[in-house]
Amino acid sequence: MILLPTLYLDLHPDTNTLLSDVVDGLSQDQKTLPSKYFYDKRGSALFDLICELDEYYPTRSELSILGDNIDEIQHFLGESVILVEYGSGSSTKTRLLLDAIPQIDAYVPIDISREHLLDAASNILAIHPEMKVLPVCADYSQTVHLDLSPDPGSHITAFFPGSTIGNFKTASAIEFLKRVHTLVGVGGGLLIGVDLEKDKGVIESAYNDLNGVTAEFNKNILLHINDRIGSAFDLDTFEHRAIYNFQNHRIEMFLESTVEQVITINGSDYSFDQGETILTEYSHKYTLNGFEDLATKAGFTVDKVWTDCRLPFFCSIPNSQLIELLVDLIGS
Ligand code: AVJ
Repeated sequence: MILLPTLYLDLHPDTNTLLSDVVDGLSQDQKTLPSKYFYDKRGSALFDLICELDEYYPTRSELSILGDNIDEIQHFLGESVILVEYGSGSSTKTRLLLDAIPQIDAYVPIDISREHLLDAASNILAIHPEMKVLPVCADYSQTVHLDLSPDPGSHITAFFPGSTIGNFKTASAIEFLKRVHTLVGVGGGLLIGVDLEKDKGVIESAYNDLNGVTAEFNKNILLHINDRIGSAFDLDTFEHRAIYNFQNHRIEMFLESTVEQVITINGSDYSFDQGETILTEYSHKYTLNGFEDLATKAGFTVDKVWTDCRLPFFCSIPNSQLIELLVDLIGS
């Protein structure tokens, strides 16, 4: 029997919202497009391919951290959990939790990419037919009102893997974490994956893979926008750039116009000089202390840190390029 999940909530950003986000972004001195618009069906599939790339270490690191520490993670999750995941994508990492931890009674995957979300939810249901799976299509950079009232003795744990927190600038990251803190409430928790600062070459190659999958993913934002609002971005006139900004501890991803050109959107012209860029994504990298500081500002206390290095502060792995951490933050 195939169980088809239905959306528990559909807050997929409508075309007017997308249009005004695009217009706002292209009107700035540094033209910008919000990273959330990478993720239509094709963008989510391209991101899945990124996760398999040799160069893209974060997914493998995090999967191994989850796998190596699953017993302890189970202990920290406690009894009777509603697991709410932000940016659930294909729910591959979540499978590790759901398969190993029977105390998870309900799973609430939140993703902006509606079809991909439903596919992932139906795969989960096929394996865990007894589980309550409540998919929410939404842009979680905005407030999402989830009406989840855990039974007495049960609590909400948020799951935010992949270092996607790194997409937010510091102030927005704190705002986001505060909303998570409010959602999970007293007795709730957050299990979050954070990519640590490491050798610049290692980071840059993770965002500049030799097969050009990341470039396709980056350009897909233009294709998605063309699809939604009928704009005429020509993908062949843009090139992928991903550069590590040391001062701000982040990868900055751009699309660089290779020609001088004008793009018309909703009757207004947006002109591009040759070499002018559109900023499409930040991916911040953290230190353990830096991230703890951020989480503390949002009201969390750090309960436990796992990394893929035995001794986080005296790492013996050359280059320490594979360090990542998961923090279990219990709402205080
Ligand atoms: C899904 C936001 C965590 O920042 O590493 C991968 C997205 N961008 N390659 C990241 C991404 C380019 C990814 N996150």
